[in-house]
Amino acid sequence: MSTPIVIAIDGPSASGKSTNAKIIANELGYTYVDTGAMYRTLAWNCLQQGIDTSNPEAVAHHCETWNAALAHEDNQVRLRVDGYYPEAEIRSAETSAVVSAVAAVPFVRDWMKARQRDCVQFGNLVMEGRDIGSNIFPETPYKFYLDASPAARQQRRDDDGIQENLATRDQRDSTRKSAPLVIPDGATVINNTGETPEQTSGRIIAEFNRLKSAGP
Ligand code: CDP
Repeated sequence: MSTPIVIAIDGPSASGKSTNAKIIANELGYTYVDTGAMYRTLAWNCLQQGIDTSNPEAVAHHCETWNAALAHEDNQVRLRVDGYYPEAEIRSAETSAVVSAVAAVPFVRDWMKARQRDCVQFGNLVMEGRDIGSNIFPETPYKFYLDASPAARQQRRDDDGIQENLATRDQRDSTRKSAPLVIPDGATVINNTGETPEQTSGRIIAEFNRLKSAGP
């Protein structure tokens, strides 16, 4: 069997990663992986279990012992904890407020990296996050970095009815020591301010096809 293809899509909050990654996965018949949901699931589970999310050692210890496993369903990978996928809960304001702190813990990043690399067991992937092209699959030739103006990104979040100041989380994600948000070497940067998802995903698929046919 040939090595699975990984399309890595990174970028800051509300840069269109999820929307575009889902469209691309659907069009190509690849499996969609939302790595942010994995960090959110751990953050939510810490809150549930009364773990102090500002204490890196407590978070690391919980991550070492929690009962979480990958599941492949509806062409996506989900991280289930005690068999449960907390789909709505992980989008709450409470979870959003602590997820960056949880995601900055080095043990957590190593744990997530092993699970995220394991996702190739499900075949070709479209994986979105903050460090996919730089740290999780640095070997993939298919790296994309999405961005949009801060005003456009904040507007998208407001339109979703979610009250959150994105700048704070972006700042934490970009300045942490362990695998910060960066533009990966060799990534195609796509600023999609003012574009529709169809336009952006179309640009990504066209570039992916060009790179793929150009070969290694
Ligand atoms: O809300 P949004 O879609 O922008 O974020 P997300 O993709 O759900 O990710 C939530 C948080 O998880 C981010 O703000 C990061 O702190 C963390 N994260 C990360 O550190 N590395 C990833 N590969 C994905 C998410």
